[in-house]
Amino acid sequence: MNILLFGKGGQVGWELQRSLAVLGKVTALGRDSTGHCADFSHSEGIAETVRALRPDVIVNAAAHTAVDKAESEPELARLLNATTPGVLAEEAARLGAWLVHYSTDYVFDGSGSRPWVETDAPAPLSVYGRTKLEGERLIQQSGCKHLILRTSWVYAARGGNFAKTMLRLAQERERLTVIDDQWGAPTGADLIADVTAHALRHLMQRPQDAGLYHLVAAGETTWNSYAKYVIEQAQQAQAAIKIKATEVAPVPTSAFPTPAVRPHNSRLDTRKLQATFGLTLPHWQQGVARMLTEILCRTP
Ligand SMILES: NC(=O)c1ccc[n+]([C@@H]2O[C@H](COP(=O)([O-])OP(=O)(O)OC[C@H]3O[C@@H](n4cnc5c(N)ncnc54)[C@H](OP(=O)(O)O)[C@@H]3O)[C@@H](O)[C@H]2O)c1
Repeated sequence: MNILLFGKGGQVGWELQRSLAVLGKVTALGRDSTGHCADFSHSEGIAETVRALRPDVIVNAAAHTAVDKAESEPELARLLNATTPGVLAEEAARLGAWLVHYSTDYVFDGSGSRPWVETDAPAPLSVYGRTKLEGERLIQQSGCKHLILRTSWVYAARGGNFAKTMLRLAQERERLTVIDDQWGAPTGADLIADVTAHALRHLMQRPQDAGLYHLVAAGETTWNSYAKYVIEQAQQAQAAIKIKATEVAPVPTSAFPTPAVRPHNSRLDTRKLQATFGLTLPHWQQGVARMLTEILCRTP
């Protein structure tokens, strides 16, 4: 199987290089790759790359993920999150190739407290959410064989993330305030990549299972409880932490105004994915603890 991966340097893209390797030959490209265009701001260049490499599977981990910045550059966000993924989908359809693409809980308006299912009506609150939803629809309308995985609160050991920021702040400060009215599930890029590889293998046998799925770790939390968990784990690992987990003060979202409006309820129901692909998704704390072990160089 020839796999063409875009966005190789991102959180998910980096992990995909590892997880897809067992499926076949992976050509992994990043925005700055030479030889083939992988810059999503050049849709025609991306189309030419697909035509030149003629992959069996295209995996798109590239996106405009700067949620607040997207509010002030909506055209670029649309190009990266919708127009170019739409072009990829057209090329995939022409080739008869599969397209794997990632989307987000931000397609929903965050109302209520029930986990969102794939058939719930999206109503994005931000430019990021709207452009990601448009990307989903362009792929669905293209007629290509596709797998769209909506995920949330992605973290990875490599690069910056919320847990690392909390670790740093907990080493510097004696008091922290963290939002406690947004609910979701922190989801590891390694889990997303592993599930992608498993699902692709399944789809080669059962192409009728193509479509849209929610993929997040099990359980739910708030950013505040997530921060407390990170601090507790760091304390157990004897890291030099100044603050006690109980001193992470809860505040509402309104305490930290941001350009983009974020959903309060980012819970995603993963029963469709688990049933279709025969998977059990691990609890979010398991993956976060593992990442912290890596970061803190602690032996398990
Ligand atoms: N992060 C989250 O919390 C989250 C939540 C829900 C869904 N998702 C979705 O999950 C997927 C993977 O996200 P992630 O967390 O891995 O994001 P990420 O770490 O921000 O990676 C995004 C990737 O896109 C690349 N990129 C940006 N602009 C580009 C351009 N003009 N041309 C080509 N590549 C470009 C980046 O390249 P550079 O490294 O060169 O900038 C990077 O490799 C995305 O579809 C995202 O929407 C993410």
